[in-house]
Amino acid sequence: MNEQLIEIHDLYVNYKIYEGILKVLNGVEFRVGVKEKVGLIGESGCGKTTTMRSVMRILADNAIVPKGSILYKGRDILKMSEEEIQRIRRESISMIFQDPTAALNPVFTVGDQLMDVIKYSTKENLTKEEMKERAIKVLKEVALPDPERILKNYPIMLSGGMRQRICIAMALVSANELLIADEPGTNLDVTIQDQILRLIGRLVEERGTSIILISHALGTVKGLVDRVYVMYAGNMVEVAPTKELFSEPIHPYTIGLFKTVPKLTGGGIPEAIKGRIPDYINPPQGCRFFPRCEHAMPICKKEKPSLKSVGGGHEVACFLYE
Ligand SMILES: Nc1ncnc2c1ncn2[C@@H]1O[C@H](COP(=O)(O)OP(=O)(O)OP(=O)(O)O)[C@@H](O)[C@H]1O
Ligand SMILES: [Mg+2]
Repeated sequence: MNEQLIEIHDLYVNYKIYEGILKVLNGVEFRVGVKEKVGLIGESGCGKTTTMRSVMRILADNAIVPKGSILYKGRDILKMSEEEIQRIRRESISMIFQDPTAALNPVFTVGDQLMDVIKYSTKENLTKEEMKERAIKVLKEVALPDPERILKNYPIMLSGGMRQRICIAMALVSANELLIADEPGTNLDVTIQDQILRLIGRLVEERGTSIILISHALGTVKGLVDRVYVMYAGNMVEVAPTKELFSEPIHPYTIGLFKTVPKLTGGGIPEAIKGRIPDYINPPQGCRFFPRCEHAMPICKKEKPSLKSVGGGHEVACFLYE
C-alpha cells in the first residue's frame, strides 16, 4: 500500500445561512497517496469544492466544521496553527480554481505576481535575476509562448486560456507535493479545457506530485487519474481504480451518473437520474440518496451506509452490498 499524503476521516462541514444550517459534508472519507492521481466527480452542489477548501483550510467565513480530521502526513490540518497551514500552502499543496481571473490581481503584472509566489515558496535567498529565470522556466512548462513578454503583461492583456495557464504556473510553484485542480478551464471552450487538463496531467507526471482532479469532463478524467471518487450530497459513495469504476460501477448513483453522460459513440438522449440533490437544511436521514434510488430498502431510510470494500480497492457505501 502507498504512503498516504492526505487522509480525510469522517468530515462534516455546515454552512450557516439566514434560513438555518446547511449540513453539507456528511462524514466524508477520502485518501490520496504520495504521487497518486485521484479524480473526484459528482453533480453540481454535492460538496466537491467544499471538501477541497477544507483541505486547504480556506472555507468561507460562515462554514463550521463540527467533526472530522484531515491528516497531512499524519498531522491534522484542522488543528494546525495558522503559520503551519500557510507554510503548507506556500510549499506543498496548492489549488487551481475554475475561474482563472479571480486568482490574479489586475493591478500587478504577471511577472510581479509570479515572482512573489516563487519568492515565498522557497527558503533559498534568490536574487531578482534568479527569480525571473525560474518564472520564465515555469511559464515555458505551461507552454506559454514568449514568456519574457508575458512577465511584463497585466492579466487583462491576456486571453482566458493564457490566464488559466498562468494560474497553473503559479500553482505549480507551490505544489511540491499536491496539486488540487478544481474544474480548471470549465468556463473556457471545450478544446482549450481539454488542452489544459492534459497539460496538468503531463506536468504532475513529470514532477512526480500527487493530484486531485475535479472535472465534469469524464472522458479526460478517465485518461488522467489512477483512482476515482464519486460524491453524492456530502458523502463519498463509491471509489475504485479508474478503469474498474468506469467499466463496473456498482452504486446506484454512479450507475445513474454515467447514464447522464451522452455516449460519444451512440446517439440517444441522456437519461438523467430522477429528482435532485436534497435540501441541505433538512437532508434525508439514513442514506441521502434513498429518495432518488430505485433500489431503496427500509434500512436505507434509517441508517447511513459507510464505505465498505468489495475487493480490489473498490469501495461502495450502499446496503445492497452489505
Ligand atoms: N459559503 C457558503 N454558504 C452557504 N452555502 C454554501 C457555501 N459554499 C457552498 N455552499 C453550498 O454547499 C453545497 C456544496 O457546494 P460545493 O461548492 O462544495 O459543491 P460542488 O460539488 O463543488 O459543486 P459544483 O460542481 O457546482 O462546483 C451547495 O449547496 C452550495 O450552495
Ligand atoms: Mg465546485
